[in-house]
Amino acid sequence: MIYLDNSATTYPKPPAVSAAVSSAMKHSANPGRSGHSLSLAAASEIYNARSSAAGFFGCDNEERVIFTSGCTMAMNMALKGLLKKGDHVVVSSLEHNAVMRPLQSLAKDDITFTKAQIVPFDNEKTTDSFRKAINAKTRMIVCTHASNVWGLRMPVERLSALAHAYGLMFVLDAAQSAGVAEVTMKSGYDAVCIAGHKGLYGPMGTGILILGENILPDTIIEGGTGSSSAEFMQPEELPDRFESGTPNLPGIAGLKTGIDFVRKKGTDRIFAHELALMQYLYSRLEKMPEIKLYTPRPDAEFTLPVLSFNIDGLSSEETALRLSKRGIAVRAGLHCAPLAHESMGTLDTGAVRISPSVFTSGADIDRLIFALKRI
Ligand code: ALA
Repeated sequence: MIYLDNSATTYPKPPAVSAAVSSAMKHSANPGRSGHSLSLAAASEIYNARSSAAGFFGCDNEERVIFTSGCTMAMNMALKGLLKKGDHVVVSSLEHNAVMRPLQSLAKDDITFTKAQIVPFDNEKTTDSFRKAINAKTRMIVCTHASNVWGLRMPVERLSALAHAYGLMFVLDAAQSAGVAEVTMKSGYDAVCIAGHKGLYGPMGTGILILGENILPDTIIEGGTGSSSAEFMQPEELPDRFESGTPNLPGIAGLKTGIDFVRKKGTDRIFAHELALMQYLYSRLEKMPEIKLYTPRPDAEFTLPVLSFNIDGLSSEETALRLSKRGIAVRAGLHCAPLAHESMGTLDTGAVRISPSVFTSGADIDRLIFALKRI
């Protein structure tokens, strides 16, 4: 199979990731709960994973690295834990449902949001849209680092600075960018939500929330942490405050190995490899009159390596089905991001998304182009 659905989850995973998961399944007990050797080894495995993630994301305090079940859980923890009754939030016009649905559910607390219309390939105008959307009740800006549908990259360092200039928090959705673009707490983000199973090559069911130094959300989940067990109150200490219940040790061990894999390959090199493939694909697709492209040519400053299109006269689902019959895996439809489709006028049609990984080759893209010509 030619797998081009890496924005949904990377496949295959590096063999070392599967080996780490399997080893954790065979050799671990519950971390932080007991004093026997298997439990201690598990605790040390988690400590190592936390340190590795902290180092990778430029976080000086590893206790502020919280393991979650995914980017969606991290986003729910940040939004529901930080926003208070009556707050207003500014989001980009490209956000995923992992942002929009929690915000919608917070409407019960009179929490409202405004959508800042992004202007592709124009960071000045995009930043201006955000500035204009800020009002007296605004408390937070939430923005995706890059659209999971269009690959459009947002000027998040500028938006973070804008948020701070207005005394607001800035929450970054790095689902699409972690492992492909630099994501560092040194940029001053207040919270960063990360998917473990995409560009970090970890297992599905893993994610990370990293909190900035002065940020302490309320909890949305409480329970046993293996610490302060005589107290009914949730502990204040991090990361325990946010990690109730038995952790996903096999997942975390796999995620650590995925992060180590990406560190060794180099985010810049992975990005350059994938971007070159998408630029090549774009240059071929723009010569095919039946193909409708929605974005300008992928570019290192303004895009991450994701490309979506449609074929005239075919639904995106039908194109994906026909590609699947030819052994090529892509994702069609709305990609859980109706706002991003609304921005591009594809809410009714969806689009066919191509998302490569470090394992994708030029020959894979040639096979895709050949199949598209046949279709
Ligand atoms: N959010 C994931 C995607 O973009 C699942 O496909």
